Amino acid sequence: NMTRKFFVCGNWKMNGSKKSIGELIQLLNQAKLDPSVEVVCAAPTIYLDMTRSKLDPKFGMAAQNCYIFPSGGFTGEISPAMIKDCDINWVILGHSTRRHIFGESNELIGKKIAHAQENSLGVIVCIGETLDEKERGITDEVIFAQTKAIADNVKDWSKVVIAYEAGWAIGTGKSATPQHVQNIHEKVREWLKTNVSEPVANSVRIIYGGSVRGDSCRELATQKDIDGFIVGKGSLKPEFVDIVNARA
Ligand code: G3P
Repeated sequence: NMTRKFFVCGNWKMNGSKKSIGELIQLLNQAKLDPSVEVVCAAPTIYLDMTRSKLDPKFGMAAQNCYIFPSGGFTGEISPAMIKDCDINWVILGHSTRRHIFGESNELIGKKIAHAQENSLGVIVCIGETLDEKERGITDEVIFAQTKAIADNVKDWSKVVIAYEAGWAIGTGKSATPQHVQNIHEKVREWLKTNVSEPVANSVRIIYGGSVRGDSCRELATQKDIDGFIVGKGSLKPEFVDIVNARA
């Protein structure tokens, strides 16, 4: 769908060093990117400020997580206010890492969304099933519960991107098929139409993550309900440029 601006987020996860990130920034600043695509880079917390100061302002940036209060005794956490203070306009919430390694529930992720929205921070909220959930045949149920936890906490849908990540495809080098992803995205949009509103369903961007590569991205990018990508490994190398330009 061409009315929704294509959105590509590079999720660097816990990777990089001052040196390698400096090189990546140079590569990105010099790359020829499709100007109609919104590109956001999610650096590790400790490198957010440095990256923001060196990365061309045409790129958006995201933190990879945040907490549910503005400040206080929460050792190791950062707040949406701090993220905004560093001129970072997005945060990734509910990534499968956070859900499955750090045990974040739909309820906590919902609170994070609400607090980020109070601070006008854009949220890239991840949903998706694990391999186990897929094998048990409960994919729909899982993603609808996750989507409900998002919808219950969103006030401004213009600052929301939903990222569907096939948990079983993350980091494997093999993305889910375009048909599988299109099917899920269509169901999520349908859910939004029924439970939120038709304008929201039509305008919210639903992006895909899970081993998106320079070669696999083109067919994915032509599906009518795939509005972009969230990219892990592929976001740390020149291949990221090809992924941003998937529709060019
Ligand atoms: O958030 C991006 C992600 O989880 C996918 O990672 O390495 O499979 O592209 P990767």
